[in-house]
Amino acid sequence: MKIIHFGDLHVWRFTPVWSELYYPKRWLGPLNLLLHRSKHFPPAYRKAALDAIVKEKPDVAVFTGDFSSFSLTSEFQEANDLFAPLRELLGDRLFALPGNHDCYTPKAYRNQVMEKMLPWVHSEAVSRLDLNEKVSLVGVNHSVPFLISSNGRVSPESQTQLKATFEQLKAEGRTVLLAGHYPYVSPPEFPEGKDHKLLGDQEFAEVVKQGAPAVYMHGHQHIRWALRSALTPDTLCLNCGSVAMKHERADKQAGFLSWSQQDDGTVDNLTAHTFNGKNDWAKTPLSASLRELPGE
Ligand SMILES: [Fe+2]
Ligand SMILES: [Fe+2]
Repeated sequence: MKIIHFGDLHVWRFTPVWSELYYPKRWLGPLNLLLHRSKHFPPAYRKAALDAIVKEKPDVAVFTGDFSSFSLTSEFQEANDLFAPLRELLGDRLFALPGNHDCYTPKAYRNQVMEKMLPWVHSEAVSRLDLNEKVSLVGVNHSVPFLISSNGRVSPESQTQLKATFEQLKAEGRTVLLAGHYPYVSPPEFPEGKDHKLLGDQEFAEVVKQGAPAVYMHGHQHIRWALRSALTPDTLCLNCGSVAMKHERADKQAGFLSWSQQDDGTVDNLTAHTFNGKNDWAKTPLSASLRELPGE
């Protein structure tokens, strides 16, 4: 079964939301866009990325959040249009989760802007999709709005539901692949900032350890990596990086991951696809960069 994992598309529009200007992110965000994001996320990269993924003809595609930059209706509309060919190819085997930028402000979150525009995204706390008679995909949504920071939060409800889902899948004797937006472990050279991390990450890691999924797919830090941590020794942690960011470093430049998923949980042919900025995507094996990190 060929899986593609991608995320952090970050469609952006420079549209001030006048009714929410009292809210710091509503002017901090566009200011940041003006200074950085418009340069780092060239609009032409988005379609190139979705075209490349469709061309790979995956059996399953997992998107781990951040469709938008500011949770604007116009940003979600563009994301919906960009995803249409992949949705046509895969149906519900395109499994997508929200990121923190898809619930950018409390108002956008309350008004369920993303859910209305992208009703096919799994915004429930925990979701499950059976991929075949042996393998199941589980999604966990930790994305909530914060005043200024880009944190996520592990809720008691999501923990309880996740534990119950893992137990059920274990009873059914199934292999589990887990997906979420935020890392719970990152390489020492890329530590998560306190304003960017998943709050409750260690508690989440404890539940992951018990559930022992074969893979944990995430994004949020826009860097591609593959690692194993002593916190969760049974689980291969994969960060897909951003699918649409422009950067001189190959592991930050627009790209995605693909691999061949075996029913017993084995990941074969793990490959990083990296955009050359024009019309080609380099394919590099990623297994060589596997790292064994000690538990913290
Ligand atoms: Fe992101
Ligand atoms: Fe994010």
